[in-house]
Amino acid sequence: MPSLSQVVNVQDLRQLAEHRVPRPVFDYLDGGGEGEFTLRENCRAFQDITFRARHAVSVGACDLHTKLLETDLALPFLLAPVGYSRLMHPDGECAAARAAGEAGTAYILSTISGHRMEDVKAASSGPVWYQLYLMGGRAVAEAAIARARMAGFSALVLTIDTAVSGIRERDVRNGVSQLLSGNLISMLPFLPQILSRPGWLASFLLDGGVPSLANVVVPGSGPMPMVDVASALANAAVTWADMHWLRQVWNAPIIVKGVLTGDDARRAIDEGASAVVVSNHGGRQLDGLPATIRALPEVVAAVNGQIEVLMDGGIRRGTDVVKAICLGARTVLIGRAYAYGLAAAGRPGVARAIQILRTDIERTLQLLGCPSIAALNRSYVDFPAAWCRGHIAH
Ligand SMILES: Cc1cc2nc3c(=O)[nH]c(=O)nc-3n(C[C@H](O)[C@H](O)[C@H](O)COP(=O)(O)O)c2cc1C
Repeated sequence: MPSLSQVVNVQDLRQLAEHRVPRPVFDYLDGGGEGEFTLRENCRAFQDITFRARHAVSVGACDLHTKLLETDLALPFLLAPVGYSRLMHPDGECAAARAAGEAGTAYILSTISGHRMEDVKAASSGPVWYQLYLMGGRAVAEAAIARARMAGFSALVLTIDTAVSGIRERDVRNGVSQLLSGNLISMLPFLPQILSRPGWLASFLLDGGVPSLANVVVPGSGPMPMVDVASALANAAVTWADMHWLRQVWNAPIIVKGVLTGDDARRAIDEGASAVVVSNHGGRQLDGLPATIRALPEVVAAVNGQIEVLMDGGIRRGTDVVKAICLGARTVLIGRAYAYGLAAAGRPGVARAIQILRTDIERTLQLLGCPSIAALNRSYVDFPAAWCRGHIAH
């Protein structure tokens, strides 16, 4: 097994994570919905894009800076919201936010967080956004939004692809809900896989066991227990009507995450979104959705420069980041790529994931003959013409 300094790419970090955390935690992080077609396709579809490099040009040190919603980022990627990060490592969300800030980029905190949002914000020297699920209803969300404003979060991310939680078959087989229940009898059949990772188990127990959702505080009963997440999500489906309400209670940027069609992108603009994220939730929700990189050109065309377009899904290498930006993404979010690092080694693991991608992106620009992220455009890639056709109305 390589040490953290020996890992060469994100796949190596994935292996380290698999080695450190118990099977149910690793599979929760690694897995996808149903047959995992969309999960695989997110990664595979990047291979349908090839580069058109400009050789024999000297570009020197390439400029990776990106401007996003009036904010300067040192890198063309942000850290996506990843629920249950505190189960991957006790420092969880705080560690990821700290690593993002140190690298000069932003962190998006999931609603499903074991750490208090005030602590997460304090951990980071960079911008931090809050991702919103309506678990517990609007009043609970409004209390969280008020805290986010006070703590200094600069944008809200409204995830719209989670009408119910997707079914991740690995989680069912591993007994994730039984393990979260705290009921020893129902946990029993699944305990051996936990006991096989004593290092993780010791740090988990020292951290106090399964945390509650520190930012979903239900009046009268306190922070929501993690075991209630699936049922709470099933009663928290977001509709466009919620955008109207959200704009009344939050007067900073709102980013709509989970857009895959030109129609939804235009609707997001009409509802006052400042940006959209082309996302299929990392292939964890509806299986059979297209790869996000394939959906990106249709959304970019529909948005037509009116707001910023971000994307996530399947990004494991710097070449993936560069390809997405060539196809019109302002910047991308990474999910598993940093979460593998978190599960492998906490903050240093996240920092290593960021460092690997940063070096990859810089080298890719140099080999491409492009001086900066800002100068990337479609002339640097070839991709299937069908991706631009969009939806044909019946
Ligand atoms: C373990 C895990 C947990 C996630 N939790 C959330 C979440 O709480 N809220 C959300 O909007 N997206 C969540 N996502 C989706 C990510 O924000 C992002 O869309 C996805 O990970 C991108 O795909 P990638 O992992 O291939 O980079 C989660 C993804 C993973 C892998």
